[in-house]
Amino acid sequence: MSSEKVFKPSEPGDMQSPKSSSTVLTNSAGNPVANNQNSVTAGPRGPVLLQDHHLLERMAIFNRERVPERVVHAKGSGAFGTFTVTADITKYTNAALFSEVGKQCRMLARFSTVAGEHGFADTVRDPRGFSLKFYTEEGNWDMVGNNTPVFFVRDGIKFQDFIHSQKRHPVTDRRSETMMFDFWSLSPESMHQVVYMFGDRGIPRSYRHMNGYSSHTYSLWNDAGERYYVKWHFHTQQGVQNLTEDEATEIAGKNPDFHRQDLFSAIEKGDYPKWKVSIQVMPEAEAETYHIHPFDLTKTWPHADYPLMEVGEFELNENPVNFFAQIEQSAFEPSNAPRGFGFSPDKMLQARLMSYADAHRYRIGVNYAALPVNHAVSPVHTYHKDGQTHFDLNQGGQPVYEPNSFGGPVQDDQRPAEPALRIDGNAARYDWPKTDEDYFAQPGELFRLLDEAEQGRMYDNFARHLGGAPDFIQQRYLGLLDKVDPKLGAGVRVSLKKPEFTAEPEIRTILTEKHTNAAGGTQRPQRD
Ligand code: HEM
Repeated sequence: MSSEKVFKPSEPGDMQSPKSSSTVLTNSAGNPVANNQNSVTAGPRGPVLLQDHHLLERMAIFNRERVPERVVHAKGSGAFGTFTVTADITKYTNAALFSEVGKQCRMLARFSTVAGEHGFADTVRDPRGFSLKFYTEEGNWDMVGNNTPVFFVRDGIKFQDFIHSQKRHPVTDRRSETMMFDFWSLSPESMHQVVYMFGDRGIPRSYRHMNGYSSHTYSLWNDAGERYYVKWHFHTQQGVQNLTEDEATEIAGKNPDFHRQDLFSAIEKGDYPKWKVSIQVMPEAEAETYHIHPFDLTKTWPHADYPLMEVGEFELNENPVNFFAQIEQSAFEPSNAPRGFGFSPDKMLQARLMSYADAHRYRIGVNYAALPVNHAVSPVHTYHKDGQTHFDLNQGGQPVYEPNSFGGPVQDDQRPAEPALRIDGNAARYDWPKTDEDYFAQPGELFRLLDEAEQGRMYDNFARHLGGAPDFIQQRYLGLLDKVDPKLGAGVRVSLKKPEFTAEPEIRTILTEKHTNAAGGTQRPQRD
């Protein structure tokens, strides 16, 4: 990698040379401002007068510039583009988007890191968010995936604990390898995703050089009322490329916005990144008998059983005009699914269907869907009304209740409805069946696919982070790595002895003594 790429500042073209202005400054009401250099004071030495409403407006609006950052995936970058259908899948779906080969649709992509805050360095070891919004003729279709085909946990009830273990420690306000590996070592279902993340793909070379995945099983359905379970894959046409931990650490210190700059600059130069879109399709009936639980987010479907079928491609070709308006205010939600797209009984997905719209209402307000970046290109007619900050005409005089006699919007029951989602059983908090407790076979296969050199880097990657956890957690985790492959456990043990990977003593002390005592009155770990 050339160091020039890392350091060279890249600003939008219009900041490369000075320009004179013919635009008159106004306040928010459009009143021209005659003097923007000096506050109104009583005499040349002050104090300031309350009547200086221009000063007060500037201070008050400045104080309200921030909206809450996303609780996860806070640091991200995005761009608009074009999706094109390349294969006929009308036998699986009646989605208007896929009605014919060659059909195109405008779209938005946002890529992100997960755990860090809005200003965090891009080149950290973390999964990357891979969010896509397709502005289809029948409303928005959102695909809110990651750059990994699996996830750490498989029930929404564990998501908050998982994320807390990745975020900052309540006392030190630092990220804590103790918390991370404590959680992972007590949640062996996370092993597949963790092995993925501690391999080379844990730090992509850029957002352009990584794949994306729905990870979850979704569904497609057709006019005949048939449902097909589907996993989505987005393969980078730039080739998968990654950074080593040393390269990434160096870049993080020199250019924390490295991935943001790369994406923006490439598009600015006309070097538009592209991805192929493929699906794996499982007929509904096979989901009952397939030997891998089809709704277990910690497992993949082998391509030998469900081959990849290429259905489309997309290109990102338009940078945002304003980052806050179009990327920070973008609101992706897995529940945005037009006709022809559906969900699955995946417990995590079901939790996500509620979570995102709820997060948007908190983060950017109840009318977030009306913001230009989130607004469907097709007509929107609801019976929602009012609420804070309607920038549009609030649906004018359209009737505000249903049923009504005045031509208000009515349900579209002339076309085939989504087939019923097949579920059965009594409501209870079910544990996963024993047959789904194989947490190690797929990560083992993944590990054995890597060449010796990448396996070696993986040992070091694990050791660099696991070395920061106390010994009892290290031992527990090594036991799990042995189950993935004894060679992996052995390799990480050797790397852990390297002096550069030893723990920081003060963090160990805080976590093992003070907090174990406070929580349980005992120094012994609860489960070992
Ligand atoms: C963002 C919740 C699992 C991918 C978010 C946000 C929330 C959230 C609240 C912030 C949304 C915002 O403020 O705009 C959850 C919950 C999960 C879950 C409750 C489990 C029950 C997952 C999984 C994936 C994923 C499994 C990937 C397969 C993303 C992405 C974003 C995100 C890519 C960033 C969206 C954007 O670019 O704006 N998640 N999440 N999440 N999540 Fe999840």
